[in-house]
Amino acid sequence: MQNTFTALFNLKVPIVQGPMGNVAGPKLIAAVANAGGLGILPIWLDPIDVAVSNIQATMALTNKPFAVNIRADLVQRDLISAAIDTGVSIIHLFWGDPKDSVSAINDARMIATVGDREAAQVALDSGAVALIAQGIEAGGHVLSEVPIEALLAQILDVAGDVPVIAAGGCASAEDGAHLISLGAAGVLFGTRFAVCQESEAHEDYKQAIIEASENQTIRSLCFDLGWSDAPHRTLINSTTTLWDDAGQPPMGERPGEGDEVIRTATGQVLRRYSVMPPIHNTTGDIQAAAMYAGTGASRIVDCPTAAAIVEQFNIALG
Ligand SMILES: Cc1cc2nc3c(=O)[nH]c(=O)nc-3n(C[C@H](O)[C@H](O)[C@H](O)COP(=O)(O)O)c2cc1C
Repeated sequence: MQNTFTALFNLKVPIVQGPMGNVAGPKLIAAVANAGGLGILPIWLDPIDVAVSNIQATMALTNKPFAVNIRADLVQRDLISAAIDTGVSIIHLFWGDPKDSVSAINDARMIATVGDREAAQVALDSGAVALIAQGIEAGGHVLSEVPIEALLAQILDVAGDVPVIAAGGCASAEDGAHLISLGAAGVLFGTRFAVCQESEAHEDYKQAIIEASENQTIRSLCFDLGWSDAPHRTLINSTTTLWDDAGQPPMGERPGEGDEVIRTATGQVLRRYSVMPPIHNTTGDIQAAAMYAGTGASRIVDCPTAAAIVEQFNIALG
């Protein structure tokens, strides 16, 4: 299926891989790009040298273009400039007003994630060439309180000729095809790509998504150590239950706050309520950590390759 979105980025399939801090690395981004979709590499967590090295590692695996993911509220202009100097031509901004970041974008193209009509208008005024409408169903950090179908209609209303990509709760190729039938020019899959062969997520985290039943995600402020006051959707687990049972108290009053839950490969201790998800080389109580997942988790039952996810979606589009 070809449309304004695929033409804009020279894609074979109107699919976007959701940027996922620590979980989506060069292998995943390159696999999606090589399969004909748009990969987005998160670099907003990285110092400049690490970001540059991850961009170069991705470029070594694909000659297709891909985007990098930047946090707008942190105004990461140095990171944007470093990405562009390394050869990136698509900048994806999320969380907040893009206005202060755009001076660094120059000739590169900007995509913005938006959660309501006003944010869409601000992104368009800042020069966005495509919008990602992220509904409340989405895994990870999510500003919107609007379900994706209603949000998509709102954003299409203001977007004009600018393509709108739908995100949130899409787990299957059929979910995606449905959103295309509602007017989306493309579909973004996050959690679906967290559970694929090239994802950096810990195997126990992938398995927890595979085993998740309906209504086993929660949008909350539970995992706020490292990024506070930012609503996010995760699987319900021992940490969310502990916090919920205590009446969802604020930082400083939460049960088990000092508990060591997991450790990174470099030995860094991550305490209960840390924002960091468990990745392949994390050790400890994996299932008590922040396991970000969208409401579609219950429909994810396998761990295919990224290329198979892209191909299934392409087939569903007919
Ligand atoms: C593990 C995980 C980490 C995420 N990290 C980021 C991030 O670093 N930057 C970002 O823009 N969005 C992030 N998100 C949100 C996704 O890019 C995307 O909007 C969301 O996953 C779509 O909903 P779905 O998971 O239901 O498909 C994350 C999502 C997940 C599941």
